[in-house]
Amino acid sequence: MTIPSNSAETSTSAAASRDVTAVVVVAAGSGERLGYGMPKAKVPLAGEAILTHALRGVAAAGIASQICVALPRGDVQLRELCDAFTAEIGAELGDMAPHVTFVDGGSTRSDSVRSALNALRDGTRYVLVHDAARALAPEAVFHRVAAALASGGKAVIPALPVVDTVKTVTRTEGEEASIAPELVTGTAPREQLRAVQTPQGFELSTLLQAHEAAAGFDDAQSAAVTDDAMLVEMLGVPVHAVRGASQSLKITTPLDLILAEGLLEGPLGMRFIEG
Ligand code: C5P
Repeated sequence: MTIPSNSAETSTSAAASRDVTAVVVVAAGSGERLGYGMPKAKVPLAGEAILTHALRGVAAAGIASQICVALPRGDVQLRELCDAFTAEIGAELGDMAPHVTFVDGGSTRSDSVRSALNALRDGTRYVLVHDAARALAPEAVFHRVAAALASGGKAVIPALPVVDTVKTVTRTEGEEASIAPELVTGTAPREQLRAVQTPQGFELSTLLQAHEAAAGFDDAQSAAVTDDAMLVEMLGVPVHAVRGASQSLKITTPLDLILAEGLLEGPLGMRFIEG
């Protein structure tokens, strides 16, 4: 892990922000689509668990004084992995090491986020919510999100322009179903579309309010919530977008795992290159 040289170079305001900033890492998903028969966070990527890569990336960014990890309920191995990570950063960073805790995740991603938010220390002002599945998110993205929060944003997400043309569809019925299973209903204007990633940063009080509002959602509404920014949008709070990175791909399918391995083991050391 490359540790940020915080002592002389970090400004007083960045250090003050770090003291009141937490990163929540959600790692409680089943990872069924990856097909390994184990939680995705445990799946090996270039010899180490996906979660280990994700946690190292968070620590290397140096923007937070605490990290709270949502793990699959009762998973002993992942708890041990978090303990090993705590020892690793303690040895490397000493007093500057972020405080690491973990909580049991829930049955949906939002439930996992809520559990972790409730476990943050008093005095936390900002939180970045990060998918363990985006294990190779570069430090630069954490910095862009944290900087926009420090500039007054209540919600900041990393995003990339979309390269594909995106259409809306509906399932075909009756005679049309014999032609094809879906019918196109429209084409979204591509220049306005963005593919959204994590870490997503928030003023903690705003995100807590957004999650409180979502706690009463029925199953269909809950299933429709695919990121935290969506909940904040529902409150009418502005959500700002900074540049994401292609390396922040969400490892979801076996092909994603091959791509991530290629990024890590390629000649360029991709984590430290801006996307
Ligand atoms: O399922 P999806 O790919 O959207 O998951 C995104 C992230 O949310 C993953 O890192 C996964 O571990 C996490 N997650 C969670 N709790 C769940 C479902 C997903 O922490 N119940």
